Amino acid sequence: MTDRSLACVILAAGKGTRMKSALPKVLHAVAGRPMVNHVLAALSTLKPERVVVVVGPEMPELAAAVAPHQTVVQREQRGTADGVKAAAAALGDFSGDVLVLYGDTPLVRPETMAAMIAARRAAADPAVVVLGMRPAEPGAYGRLILNPTGGLERIVEYLDASPDERAVTLCNGGLMAFDGRRLWSLLARIGNDNAKEEYYLTDAIGLARADRAACAVVEVSEDELIGVNCRADLAMVERIVQRRLRLAAMAGGATLIDPETVHFSLDTSLGRDVVVHPFVVFGPGVSVGEGVEIRAFSHLERAQIAAGATIGPYARLRPGAEIGPGAHIGNFVEIKNARVDAGAKVNHLTYIGDASIGAKANIGAGTITCNYDGVAKHHTAIGAGAFIGSNASLVAPVTIGAGATIGAGSVITADVAPDALAVARGRQQSYAGWTKRKKKGGAAPL
Ligand code: UD1
Ligand code: CA
Repeated sequence: MTDRSLACVILAAGKGTRMKSALPKVLHAVAGRPMVNHVLAALSTLKPERVVVVVGPEMPELAAAVAPHQTVVQREQRGTADGVKAAAAALGDFSGDVLVLYGDTPLVRPETMAAMIAARRAAADPAVVVLGMRPAEPGAYGRLILNPTGGLERIVEYLDASPDERAVTLCNGGLMAFDGRRLWSLLARIGNDNAKEEYYLTDAIGLARADRAACAVVEVSEDELIGVNCRADLAMVERIVQRRLRLAAMAGGATLIDPETVHFSLDTSLGRDVVVHPFVVFGPGVSVGEGVEIRAFSHLERAQIAAGATIGPYARLRPGAEIGPGAHIGNFVEIKNARVDAGAKVNHLTYIGDASIGAKANIGAGTITCNYDGVAKHHTAIGAGAFIGSNASLVAPVTIGAGATIGAGSVITADVAPDALAVARGRQQSYAGWTKRKKKGGAAPL
């Protein structure tokens, strides 16, 4: 019986010299996630039985980023065929289909990967399916040479191609799906007698044809196959991903008033009827409930916002911000590692860090939770319905009871009981006629 299981090899051993970076190329982020994780995310919809990521030596961060998937080290980069060979031991006796992807080509859609697998499993039973494209500028891509019946005959790398072959516009996008039963015998026969003295995976096609096995091409738009080699490529890919994410957000029922100015992360989750005003940035790990309004120039990361809340303009939600239903977070407010319960209001010029704010509490303009004493961070607990006057400093650890009131300008260093009023500031004194006495000259006694 034919084995319908799927394994995937992701080639990611390249250091990416042209990135001029200390970071391995595929760890550079697009929409807040390393490129290689985009490939893994698209792949996950195909539910492969095994995934092996081929990495270069000394790339521990890369192994961590792709965990729990297995990594194998390719000691020396001797070509794409050698890269796939590095995964041989990890795939052992696997005999299903083997999809080869590149870690630096993050735009390939799950539908495209599925189309390759479907083509591999078609009646003609091709040994290899190659993803093809017709780029506006074919440049140095490998060229796909077809036979008169439209089957794929061989791939010739640009450096090894004749002028006639270079004139071919159908190019190799790089991704390939192999019949796992034939893959290893093909790889074993690939040599490095070519311009780069590399082991080309693309040679597998000619070898399969020599075995009289069929090979096929699945063609897609070149947009999906942009490979990242330098920072300018990275920016181009980011743009495309952002466009996709904006369209997905709108398709999911969010209003983006000026989509081009909104920046998403791959994992941003928006409920229905969320309204996002211009110039909002969603860093990684943000989820937004239904009907939330996020006003202009807000920056959010690792934050949860419950239904009906309003955020901004000019709000900053940092990791661990949990905003309850219907809460209001206003302008120039920063929230970090803090829970703001239902209906609470933090409207103006405030820092809330390492804190909990009870339902319907009202936090006055300029309130600061003084969470850090220079050594450790401490918690501020504010009870439900509490009223914090403007410009209060709450020196943590401190607890403000439910329904308590804090006088404006107070520096609160001790706990305040529920429903109590606490005022901690210099008492006001007034001196009648003081200004006139001063203007007459000389000393102005109080
Ligand atoms: C490859 C194809 C070319 C195709 C192009 C599409 C071959 C021989 N050529 O060329 O036909 O048009 O992709 O982008 O396959 N890698 C390893 N180990 C290695 C070599 C490469 O992991 O030993 C990884 C690289 O990090 C990269 C990917 O494989 O992610 C592709 O390798 P690269 O050298 O960029 O191939 P191209 O020359 O672009
Ligand atoms: Ca490349």
